[in-house]
Amino acid sequence: MTQQETNTASGLFLTFEGIDGSGKSTQCKRLAASLRAAGHDVILTREPGGSPGAEEIRRMVLEGNPDRWSAETEILLFTAARRDHLERTILPALEAGKVVICDRFADSTRMYQGMSRGDLRATVDQLHALMIGREPDLTMLIDMDPAVGLSRAKGRQGTEERFEDFGIGLQEKMRAGFLTLAKEFAGRFRVIDGVQDIDTVAADILRHATDALAIEAGSDQP
Ligand code: ADP
Ligand code: TYD
Repeated sequence: MTQQETNTASGLFLTFEGIDGSGKSTQCKRLAASLRAAGHDVILTREPGGSPGAEEIRRMVLEGNPDRWSAETEILLFTAARRDHLERTILPALEAGKVVICDRFADSTRMYQGMSRGDLRATVDQLHALMIGREPDLTMLIDMDPAVGLSRAKGRQGTEERFEDFGIGLQEKMRAGFLTLAKEFAGRFRVIDGVQDIDTVAADILRHATDALAIEAGSDQP
């Protein structure tokens, strides 16, 4: 898969980013339902995961003793999962003209692996350029005070506690990092106020997605 091949896709690739508990999975589902109701062919997927092989890697990175991976190995694992997901799920759907909604993507690796255990952002970016070479068309950053996100996330049950357990300090750093990233990739990022109620957040997101789909449809005209 060359860089050129990854850019021939004609659907819309939309990702959600933000700290744990910010409402990404809730809003991914809401957007998928709204776009399907409007007649779009939508694939809803997530990272790490989204293909059988990548889901296996998800279990390796999110369950068990996290200290068994160095920061560098973790970057390789998340990138390996992403490559499989891209090859087997994302690109085939985009080539078929579908809307792909993905709960987290490479921006999460830029933040969590790039910032949480030393400054490894350059390593993340190099591996991304070599093995992924594709950015989303549009990224919804659901922004909020981490105290709100953490209290919402802690309300959930599950075995995937690893990153949520990093606590408020790291989540503050991630929030600031995501807002900086939104400026770095200003063309594709939309910052959404995630403290609002679910319906208001969903309406903001739908407006941005509808705008992007209208531009996409316009660019398909001869
Ligand atoms: P994420 O996928 O970002 O971790 P979730 O979508 O799982 O976040 O949401 C975390 C929790 O907060 C869930 O219990 C969800 O029902 C709740 N929640 C999501 N959005 C809102 C909102 N706007 N207001 C109040 N609660 C919310
Ligand atoms: P996710 O299931 O989206 O968690 P949440 O719903 O709590 O936001 O993601 C699981 C964890 O994986 C999350 O804490 C962030 C982490 N993660 C990384 O560290 N790097 C990555 O590249 C991705 C995609 C996720």
